[in-house]
Amino acid sequence: MAKRLKAAVAGANGYAGMTLVNLLSRHPGVELEQLTSRSFAGKPYASVFPLLELEGEFLSEPVPDGIDVVFSCLPHNVGAGKAGGWLAAGARVVDMSADFRLKDSSQYPKWYRQEHPAPELLAKAVFGLPELHERELAGAELIAAPGCYSTAAILALAPAVAAGLAGADIIVDAKSGVSGSGRSVSMGVHFSEVNESLGAYAIEGHRHQPEIVQELTALTRAVDSPHAAATRRSSPHGGELTVTFVPHLAPMTRGILATCYFDLKGSLKQLRDAYREFYAGQPFTRVVPQSPTTKLASHSNLCLVNVAAQNEKAVVTAALDNLVKGASGQGVECFNIAFGFDRKTALETPVQWP
Ligand SMILES: NC(=O)c1ccc[n+]([C@@H]2O[C@H](COP(=O)([O-])OP(=O)(O)OC[C@H]3O[C@@H](n4cnc5c(N)ncnc54)[C@H](OP(=O)(O)O)[C@@H]3O)[C@@H](O)[C@H]2O)c1
Repeated sequence: MAKRLKAAVAGANGYAGMTLVNLLSRHPGVELEQLTSRSFAGKPYASVFPLLELEGEFLSEPVPDGIDVVFSCLPHNVGAGKAGGWLAAGARVVDMSADFRLKDSSQYPKWYRQEHPAPELLAKAVFGLPELHERELAGAELIAAPGCYSTAAILALAPAVAAGLAGADIIVDAKSGVSGSGRSVSMGVHFSEVNESLGAYAIEGHRHQPEIVQELTALTRAVDSPHAAATRRSSPHGGELTVTFVPHLAPMTRGILATCYFDLKGSLKQLRDAYREFYAGQPFTRVVPQSPTTKLASHSNLCLVNVAAQNEKAVVTAALDNLVKGASGQGVECFNIAFGFDRKTALETPVQWP
């Protein structure tokens, strides 16, 4: 058997990190060499992973020498200054945070309240959405896995935008389970605040919005169809789509449901054909006949997409698990592509229903 790749997981005791460790522990090509956490440094892995047979103790920071890949599951702004050192030591990096997702460094102060600490790395980073960037991901050294909301919204909209079947004004109404906010408790995600309740937040602008615009706008530029040209012409922002994105916190542990609305520039049949064609052969994004529920996708790396219309408006719904296809499953999927493994390795899970 070929030598296994040595992996470090930074932030292994957070929700994204724990999900990654669970997935990587069953990956035949990976040796989990280092798990890091400041609060668990020096404690055995079993203190966080009692169900996995993992020997070793948490480090406070990855030591990248001899490591093939660092999976960074740190909060945004934390790993951005460290990734350059990991790359210089010879490790490739799969970053689950937002630090390398936006191509334009001038956007970071607005959305992340600081100048980007390593803007020179942005050109190297590949946006880790395999349905759009599989070719660039092969051999990639720095992968920026998209946000959970962004994954659902982009996968819900990409075929329509690429085919020029969407008007330039798009609405994304999305609901997330509370694990989307991470493991450390804050008032907004406290059980007694969230249970039996539902509310919108970040109405003035959520950080995932520019990722969605970046990727969908690139698709309108990539297509050369009369519809796409019409979409560009009708855009009030010089070719960019307008995405009104409103996230909601739902009283559930995991899952994202994105309901997307746009003016349909064609027939429903054309729209459905465009989705079927776009996702033909994609292992994890499936066009389904009914509007999906979050539970259907729960614990899997699937994104389930339904295409419908009401009057002249298309209504596309997408459901995924924020910690798997919306985070760590997609990180593993990108890693598989980058290192030449079968894309589905460690990601085929039995159906979890109900
Ligand atoms: N949750 C999701 O659904 C989701 C989806 C997509 C992407 N992501 C992204 O994935 C990353 C991790 O999210 P999460 O949900 O796993 O968050 P989390 O549960 O809060 O975990 C954060 C991790 O980072 C470590 N950490 C926190 N502050 C740190 C600092 N200043 N320096 C070094 N380490 C620090 C924490 O461990 P110690 O405090 O012990 O060091 C913990 O391991 C974030 O960037 C998030 O945006 C999350």
